Amino acid sequence: MCGIVGYIGPQEKKKILLDGLQELEYRGYDSAGIAVIADGKLQHFKAVGKLKNLREKAAGFRSEGPGAAIGHTRWATHGKPTELNAHPHVGAFSYVVHNGIIENYRELKEELEAKGVRFLSQTDTETVVHLFEQKIKEGLEPFDAFKATIDRLEGAYAILLISEAAPETIFFAKNGSPLLIAFDAEEIYFASSDTAVIGHAKEAYYLEDGEYGYARPGEVRLFGPGGEKPISTQPLPADKAMAQKDGYRFFMEKEIYEQSTVISDTMLGRVLEDRVEFEELDPGLFEGIDAIKICACGTSYHAGLTGAYLLERMAKIPCQVEIASEFRYKEPLLTPDTLFITISQSGETADTLEALKMAKRAGLRSLSICNVDNSSIVRESDAAILTRAGIEKGVASTKAFATQVMVLWMMTLYLGQKRGTLEAETLQIELDAMRRTPKALLVEEKLHERIHRLSKRYLHGHGFFYIGRDLFYPLALEGALKLKEISYLHAEGYPAGEMKHGPIALADAELFTIALMPRTLLYDKIKSNVEELSARDATILAISPEEFELADDFIRIRHAEHPMLEFFEMMVVTQMLALEISIRLGNDVDMPRNLAKSVTVE
Ligand code: G6P
Repeated sequence: MCGIVGYIGPQEKKKILLDGLQELEYRGYDSAGIAVIADGKLQHFKAVGKLKNLREKAAGFRSEGPGAAIGHTRWATHGKPTELNAHPHVGAFSYVVHNGIIENYRELKEELEAKGVRFLSQTDTETVVHLFEQKIKEGLEPFDAFKATIDRLEGAYAILLISEAAPETIFFAKNGSPLLIAFDAEEIYFASSDTAVIGHAKEAYYLEDGEYGYARPGEVRLFGPGGEKPISTQPLPADKAMAQKDGYRFFMEKEIYEQSTVISDTMLGRVLEDRVEFEELDPGLFEGIDAIKICACGTSYHAGLTGAYLLERMAKIPCQVEIASEFRYKEPLLTPDTLFITISQSGETADTLEALKMAKRAGLRSLSICNVDNSSIVRESDAAILTRAGIEKGVASTKAFATQVMVLWMMTLYLGQKRGTLEAETLQIELDAMRRTPKALLVEEKLHERIHRLSKRYLHGHGFFYIGRDLFYPLALEGALKLKEISYLHAEGYPAGEMKHGPIALADAELFTIALMPRTLLYDKIKSNVEELSARDATILAISPEEFELADDFIRIRHAEHPMLEFFEMMVVTQMLALEISIRLGNDVDMPRNLAKSVTVE
């Protein structure tokens, strides 16, 4: 996601920052900015789009000599990718860059606005710089003001702040988002990922949650909850490619692990105490709407299928899901009481975009669920909800799917509220479950190890059937797609109750059945479907919170209080299974043969 760099030292600061940001480009971004204090004076440059634009803007600027500098690449999540929303965020005499989410930013913003502070951006980050300056105005010393600021922050953050109140100093804090300090003789570097400093510095200290402090030439002071701490550095890795993957073997693996944190971002400011809100949606969008049509391709289509179960069940609105390439040529009947929803990770998929244009020509209102702001599909739609997954590098989609499903679940509650189809008690149960999702997405080492061990038994055979019912049927489709995409083994997703109408003829010991067996939804039904397969000697791998004695292999999931928590946990298991099988087969996990991340042709 976003990237941070910082530098204290005599070298040309602009160059160090821009080169560092360049190394973080792989994380994805849609705007960038730098701020420098030299000779006690602050200067900043921001630009939308690629770093080249920022380089051009800052072309005439030189910043040698003593001073401090910070830089940032931003991937829009709260607010559009505009220059005003780009970091560093500006106060009267200070600048801040931030990764993560300030969960209580609304409350802080209201408080500051009441004191007359004027906000320029739509971001949560801007509160940090104003809060700091407010504390200075109240008479605190700069470091005390910084400490008092971070004490007020709730959420996840990696923060660098510079101020004319303390030239040559960088204030830093970390909680939940990565940050490191790197050293090379007298020079001090900061970065959100070590790729930015490999080649410049030799040693680094990786901050822990709850740590903060300040750095100035020749001095770095580090504090934690228990007071001041010594800094013990370690050598920086030499391998940049490995560092880009945060130490994971593949981007896909990194992205599976990231799901727990990005889903919080998806929910931020939308899942409130007693309801779901989408600030970005005009309430009029749903007026006169009596049906929904969802259109998408690939993994996004599977998210759509999942959403349809939720929307019909809880928001009581008829919902059809269509594969975009089919929809385009079927001469569909489109009526203006239908809201047309497109789902796309990239926002550029040709078939989905064309389907959207068709719906618009037919006079339908449109909403896109997308991960890329300003993409063609977002621009073409009447309204958009961003999934906030951050860039996804692995061709096989993982975190994009998780966040799409989350948005659809949130939309269900949002519509349920509007349409009065949800009892207050049900709404509370759903909201509680939603808040527990980040935990359900955490990958335990034990689970990963178990899947790794099991995977060796699933490298042959004549095919895989992923089976599930209800919400778990689209998950079965998605699980099978993951396996196909990266292992090149034949896999199908099937509704469990439908196996007896044909596919059961294939059952033998070489047919691998991955059974999705949630405790909270139709457990007895799926159990008898699996029993039928087991009786025909199919090899069964059951994924369930409940041990199933007829299973040849069993992967236990933790949650069984709510179907969506079981859904998300099982999703992680199916992603991991595909990953481990693919690795054992020696395939290129991130760039599988014949596939592209974004398909912009028909
Ligand atoms: C490609 C990708 C898939 C993706 C599909 C739809 O085939 O390889 O992972 O699900 O396109 O892409 P979209 O960007 O519209 O979600």
